[in-house]
Amino acid sequence: MSARGHAFGIDIGGSGVKGAEVDLSTGLLTHDRIKIATPQPSTPDAVAAAVAELVAKAQWDGPVGLTMPCVVLDGHARTAANIDQGWIGTDARALFSAALGGRAVTVVNDADAAGLAEDRYGSARDLHGLTIVLTFGTGIGSALLYNGTLVPNSELGHLLVGAAEAEHLAAASIKDREELDYPAWARRVSTVLGTIEDLFWPKVFIAGGGISRDHEQWIPLLTNRTPVIPAVLKNTAGIVGAAMAIDQGLAP
Ligand code: BGC
Repeated sequence: MSARGHAFGIDIGGSGVKGAEVDLSTGLLTHDRIKIATPQPSTPDAVAAAVAELVAKAQWDGPVGLTMPCVVLDGHARTAANIDQGWIGTDARALFSAALGGRAVTVVNDADAAGLAEDRYGSARDLHGLTIVLTFGTGIGSALLYNGTLVPNSELGHLLVGAAEAEHLAAASIKDREELDYPAWARRVSTVLGTIEDLFWPKVFIAGGGISRDHEQWIPLLTNRTPVIPAVLKNTAGIVGAAMAIDQGLAP
């Protein structure tokens, strides 16, 4: 089925391929998301087969938006983080379209999708100017949104902060790996945000990723100057953003 004002989004991550139909008037999923374990190894053909299985299970026959933890340019994956390196250079758009019987698809970076969703349905929806959404997970993803328009593939997680890449200092996975408590980790996040705000001067940062569920424990500890607010959509942001991307005809 494909209903008016609805679109289908799929979020491809290192451990799961998750998808659902989204009501774009509310940003809510119309049914529980369907999750399939990401095939290991997560090669292009294996992931495309998982996507086809998911869409068949959902009985969705319309266009599909997809996110990947990759820089995506002209439908091609140009980097690959937490997914098989065989994606680099792959025409992801053509591959998924073929796996889905030739239907229209669009492929966007995972953090860009989360950013689109937060900007329209999340805590920054009524704000103007530059919003920077950061997703703290295995790495740090970023989305730059200016009055709702996405500047794709910003990759601020790889910005050098001192001698290290931002995501090597302050991803949520680093907190776990180095057994940092919230005050110690928040100091690192403040340093990363301080570097980004000196270069981009956003009006607000939105903090997403799983660790944003515990935002009371660390956002109040941040010392950078720009306000930081927690993401609202939590684990549906990628799916919702992917659905928005296909609806808007985004083709980064
Ligand atoms: C990747 C980004 C991705 C982010 C979150 C980073 O390591 O370079 O493309 O958005 O992780 O998955």
